[in-house]
Amino acid sequence: MRKPKTIGAVTPSSPQLVKKMIKAFDFEKIGDIIEFGPGTGNTTKSLLSKMRHNQKLIVFEIHPVFAKNLEKIKDKRLVVIQNSAENFEHYIKKHKLNKPLCIFSSLPLSYWKKPTLNKFFTAIAKEISKDGIYIQFAYSLNRHTALMPFFKNIGVKFVLMNMPPAFVYICSNKE
Ligand SMILES: C[S@@+](CC[C@H](N)C(=O)[O-])C[C@H]1O[C@@H](n2cnc3c(N)ncnc32)[C@H](O)[C@@H]1O
Repeated sequence: MRKPKTIGAVTPSSPQLVKKMIKAFDFEKIGDIIEFGPGTGNTTKSLLSKMRHNQKLIVFEIHPVFAKNLEKIKDKRLVVIQNSAENFEHYIKKHKLNKPLCIFSSLPLSYWKKPTLNKFFTAIAKEISKDGIYIQFAYSLNRHTALMPFFKNIGVKFVLMNMPPAFVYICSNKE
Protein backbone atom coordinates (compact mmCIF):
# COMPACT_ATOMS: atom_id res chain seq x y z
CA MET A 1 0.00 0.00 0.00
CA ARG A 2 2.96 2.35 0.71
CA LYS A 3 4.45 1.85 -2.77
CA PRO A 4 1.50 1.92 -5.21
CA LYS A 5 3.64 2.94 -8.21
CA THR A 6 5.96 -0.05 -7.97
CA ILE A 7 3.84 -2.73 -6.29
CA GLY A 8 0.67 -1.79 -8.22
CA ALA A 9 -1.59 -4.22 -6.34
CA VAL A 10 -3.20 -4.63 -2.94
CA THR A 11 -3.13 -8.43 -2.86
CA PRO A 12 -1.02 -11.08 -4.60
CA SER A 13 -2.42 -12.48 -7.87
CA SER A 14 -5.14 -15.09 -7.38
CA PRO A 15 -4.47 -18.75 -8.27
CA GLN A 16 -6.99 -18.31 -11.14
CA LEU A 17 -4.97 -15.42 -12.61
CA VAL A 18 -1.67 -17.28 -12.26
CA LYS A 19 -3.25 -20.35 -13.90
CA LYS A 20 -4.53 -18.33 -16.88
CA MET A 21 -1.16 -16.66 -17.41
CA ILE A 22 0.73 -19.94 -17.25
CA LYS A 23 -1.72 -21.75 -19.51
CA ALA A 24 -0.84 -19.32 -22.31
CA PHE A 25 2.36 -21.13 -23.22
CA ASP A 26 3.64 -24.60 -23.90
CA PHE A 27 6.56 -25.54 -21.61
CA GLU A 28 7.75 -28.14 -24.10
CA LYS A 29 8.15 -25.65 -26.94
CA ILE A 30 9.71 -22.61 -25.26
CA GLY A 31 13.31 -22.01 -24.22
CA ASP A 32 14.09 -20.19 -20.99
CA ILE A 33 11.69 -17.98 -19.02
CA ILE A 34 11.96 -14.43 -17.69
CA GLU A 35 9.61 -13.10 -15.03
CA PHE A 36 9.21 -9.39 -14.28
CA GLY A 37 7.83 -8.33 -10.89
CA PRO A 38 7.48 -11.70 -9.09
CA GLY A 39 6.65 -10.03 -5.75
CA THR A 40 5.81 -12.69 -3.17
CA GLY A 41 6.62 -15.44 -5.68
CA ASN A 42 3.21 -17.02 -6.37
CA THR A 43 3.80 -17.14 -10.11
CA THR A 44 7.50 -18.00 -9.70
CA LYS A 45 6.62 -21.16 -7.73
CA SER A 46 3.92 -22.16 -10.23
CA LEU A 47 6.32 -21.66 -13.12
CA LEU A 48 9.00 -23.77 -11.42
CA SER A 49 6.49 -26.55 -10.79
CA LYS A 50 5.72 -26.78 -14.53
CA MET A 51 9.18 -26.15 -16.00
CA ARG A 52 11.44 -28.77 -17.54
CA HIS A 53 14.50 -29.70 -15.50
CA ASN A 54 16.83 -27.99 -17.98
CA GLN A 55 14.92 -24.69 -18.30
CA LYS A 56 16.11 -21.51 -16.56
CA LEU A 57 13.92 -18.91 -14.87
CA ILE A 58 15.36 -15.43 -14.38
CA VAL A 59 13.24 -13.14 -12.22
CA PHE A 60 13.62 -9.35 -11.90
CA GLU A 61 12.31 -7.89 -8.67
CA ILE A 62 13.10 -4.29 -7.74
CA HIS A 63 11.89 -4.48 -4.13
CA PRO A 64 14.78 -5.65 -1.87
CA VAL A 65 12.58 -7.48 0.67
CA PHE A 66 10.74 -9.43 -2.04
CA ALA A 67 14.05 -10.20 -3.79
CA LYS A 68 15.58 -11.53 -0.53
CA ASN A 69 12.58 -13.80 0.07
CA LEU A 70 12.68 -15.08 -3.50
CA GLU A 71 16.32 -16.04 -2.96
CA LYS A 72 15.11 -18.45 -0.28
CA ILE A 73 13.44 -20.60 -2.96
CA LYS A 74 16.00 -23.33 -3.38
CA ASP A 75 15.92 -24.34 -7.01
CA LYS A 76 18.97 -24.51 -9.29
CA ARG A 77 16.92 -23.32 -12.27
CA LEU A 78 16.03 -19.99 -10.60
CA VAL A 79 18.13 -16.80 -10.76
CA VAL A 80 16.88 -13.79 -8.76
CA ILE A 81 18.01 -10.38 -9.95
CA GLN A 82 17.31 -7.38 -7.77
CA ASN A 83 17.22 -4.80 -10.55
CA SER A 84 14.68 -3.05 -12.71
CA ALA A 85 13.11 -5.10 -15.47
CA GLU A 86 14.14 -2.24 -17.79
CA ASN A 87 17.70 -3.66 -17.73
CA PHE A 88 16.74 -7.21 -18.65
CA GLU A 89 18.57 -7.45 -21.99
CA HIS A 90 22.00 -7.36 -20.37
CA TYR A 91 21.11 -10.50 -18.33
CA ILE A 92 19.91 -12.48 -21.36
CA LYS A 93 23.47 -12.40 -22.66
CA LYS A 94 25.08 -12.81 -19.23
CA HIS A 95 23.09 -15.96 -18.42
CA LYS A 96 23.16 -17.27 -22.02
CA LEU A 97 19.39 -17.80 -22.10
CA ASN A 98 18.00 -20.23 -24.63
CA LYS A 99 15.44 -19.03 -27.16
CA PRO A 100 12.53 -18.86 -27.88
CA LEU A 101 12.08 -16.83 -24.73
CA CYS A 102 8.91 -16.59 -22.73
CA ILE A 103 8.49 -13.33 -20.80
CA PHE A 104 5.99 -13.29 -18.02
CA SER A 105 5.18 -9.91 -16.41
CA SER A 106 3.13 -8.53 -13.52
CA LEU A 107 4.74 -5.08 -13.69
CA PRO A 108 2.45 -2.13 -12.92
CA LEU A 109 3.07 -0.56 -16.33
CA SER A 110 0.32 2.05 -16.02
CA TYR A 111 2.79 4.11 -13.96
CA TRP A 112 5.53 4.04 -16.62
CA LYS A 113 6.13 7.03 -18.91
CA LYS A 114 5.40 6.49 -22.61
CA PRO A 115 9.04 6.75 -23.88
CA THR A 116 10.22 4.23 -21.24
CA LEU A 117 7.35 1.92 -22.10
CA ASN A 118 8.06 2.14 -25.84
CA LYS A 119 11.74 1.34 -25.29
CA PHE A 120 10.77 -1.59 -23.06
CA PHE A 121 8.26 -3.06 -25.55
CA THR A 122 10.77 -2.63 -28.40
CA ALA A 123 13.34 -4.63 -26.42
CA ILE A 124 10.78 -7.34 -25.54
CA ALA A 125 9.64 -7.68 -29.17
CA LYS A 126 13.28 -8.00 -30.29
CA GLU A 127 14.14 -10.61 -27.67
CA ILE A 128 11.08 -12.83 -28.11
CA SER A 129 11.66 -12.65 -31.87
CA LYS A 130 9.22 -14.73 -33.99
CA ASP A 131 8.67 -17.76 -31.77
CA GLY A 132 8.69 -16.39 -28.23
CA ILE A 133 5.82 -15.06 -26.19
CA TYR A 134 5.20 -12.14 -23.84
CA ILE A 135 2.47 -12.38 -21.22
CA GLN A 136 1.41 -9.32 -19.22
CA PHE A 137 -1.44 -8.83 -16.84
CA ALA A 138 -3.21 -5.51 -16.28
CA TYR A 139 -6.33 -4.19 -14.66
CA SER A 140 -7.72 -2.48 -17.76
CA LEU A 141 -8.23 -2.96 -21.49
CA ASN A 142 -6.29 0.25 -22.27
CA ARG A 143 -3.01 -1.64 -22.45
CA HIS A 144 -4.03 -3.07 -25.84
CA THR A 145 -3.41 0.23 -27.71
CA ALA A 146 0.08 0.60 -26.21
CA LEU A 147 1.04 -2.95 -27.22
CA MET A 148 -0.29 -2.83 -30.79
CA PRO A 149 2.71 -1.15 -32.50
CA PHE A 150 5.10 -3.81 -31.15
CA PHE A 151 3.29 -7.15 -31.47
CA LYS A 152 1.52 -8.76 -34.43
CA ASN A 153 -0.70 -10.99 -32.31
CA ILE A 154 -2.33 -9.83 -29.09
CA GLY A 155 -4.83 -12.08 -27.34
CA VAL A 156 -6.71 -10.91 -24.25
CA LYS A 157 -8.22 -13.09 -21.52
CA PHE A 158 -10.39 -11.84 -18.66
CA VAL A 159 -10.03 -13.18 -15.12
CA LEU A 160 -12.95 -12.35 -12.87
CA MET A 161 -11.60 -14.22 -9.84
CA ASN A 162 -8.88 -11.75 -8.89
CA MET A 163 -8.81 -8.67 -6.70
CA PRO A 164 -9.47 -6.54 -8.74
CA PRO A 165 -10.53 -8.56 -11.83
CA ALA A 166 -7.71 -8.57 -14.40
CA PHE A 167 -6.88 -8.94 -18.09
CA VAL A 168 -4.11 -11.18 -19.38
CA TYR A 169 -2.43 -10.02 -22.60
CA ILE A 170 -0.74 -12.71 -24.68
CA CYS A 171 1.60 -11.18 -27.24
CA SER A 172 3.73 -12.70 -29.99
CA ASN A 173 5.14 -11.96 -33.41
CA LYS A 174 4.39 -15.34 -34.97
CA GLU A 175 3.64 -15.12 -38.70
C1 LIG B 1 1.48 -6.23 -9.06
S1 LIG B 1 2.90 -6.76 -8.13
C2 LIG B 1 2.89 -8.43 -8.69
C3 LIG B 1 3.42 -9.40 -7.71
C4 LIG B 1 3.24 -10.88 -8.06
N1 LIG B 1 3.78 -11.24 -9.35
C5 LIG B 1 1.80 -11.27 -8.04
O1 LIG B 1 1.27 -11.50 -9.12
O2 LIG B 1 1.23 -11.35 -6.97
C6 LIG B 1 4.20 -5.98 -9.06
C7 LIG B 1 5.62 -6.37 -8.65
O3 LIG B 1 6.52 -5.72 -9.56
C8 LIG B 1 7.66 -5.23 -8.84
N2 LIG B 1 8.25 -4.16 -9.67
C9 LIG B 1 7.74 -2.92 -9.90
N3 LIG B 1 8.50 -2.23 -10.76
C10 LIG B 1 9.51 -3.07 -11.11
C11 LIG B 1 10.61 -2.95 -12.00
N4 LIG B 1 10.83 -1.83 -12.72
N5 LIG B 1 11.43 -4.01 -12.15
C12 LIG B 1 11.23 -5.16 -11.45
N6 LIG B 1 10.21 -5.33 -10.58
C13 LIG B 1 9.35 -4.30 -10.42
C14 LIG B 1 7.06 -4.79 -7.51
O4 LIG B 1 8.04 -4.67 -6.50
C15 LIG B 1 6.03 -5.89 -7.25
O5 LIG B 1 6.61 -6.97 -6.57
